[in-house]
Amino acid sequence: MARKLAAGQKLVLASHNKGKLREIEALLRPLGIAVVSAGALGLPEPEEDAPDFAGNARIKAVAAATASGLPALSDDSGFCVAALGGAPGVLSARWAGPAKDFAVAMASVHERMGDNPDRRAWFIAALCLAWPDGHTETFLGRIDGAVVWPPRGDRGFGYDPMFVPAGAQQTFGEMDADAKHAVSHRARAFAQVLTSCFV
Ligand code: IMP
Repeated sequence: MARKLAAGQKLVLASHNKGKLREIEALLRPLGIAVVSAGALGLPEPEEDAPDFAGNARIKAVAAATASGLPALSDDSGFCVAALGGAPGVLSARWAGPAKDFAVAMASVHERMGDNPDRRAWFIAALCLAWPDGHTETFLGRIDGAVVWPPRGDRGFGYDPMFVPAGAQQTFGEMDADAKHAVSHRARAFAQVLTSCFV
């Protein structure tokens, strides 16, 4: 049975990614939940060695909930390109290298795609809410669209400047935060967390 989080309760955000933290904090703000990041608590980053987004989200949320004794919400997400068989996928962060340089990661996607006419791409987010006793609930969100080159816009993070969601003209990197939240993979997964896990 789903457990419920109520206003006033404390929740750990099990991510060290500033872009994700900013977006998840904005999604949680209206709910009156007190959030603290895993980084602020000095929690280590566990190794993400599951083969899929949901598995990696569970690893991060369970590690943070167990270490902190508080419910923890994690996000494992990535950028998937049809012409690359779904890559970079779960390796999205790693394609940016140790310097976390997404100009390099985007150039790598562009080079590997070459002039392939199939420009379809999508983002996936798995959000996992874990309790200190090991209970977890995981939700998936997806947004489909197309790869554009060159990258456009300096908002958002990661691969945002090279992705235009279906039906839009602007890249995620050009949209303001509210426009991205209206359709994003993260917001879609979060809508399910809200329905299932909050009083
Ligand atoms: P991980 O979930 O920590 O493995 O990292 C996911 C990576 O996917 C991030 O570092 C970003 O590069 C990429 N990613 C996930 N969500 C987004 C998004 O909303 N916009 C752009 N890139 C994203």
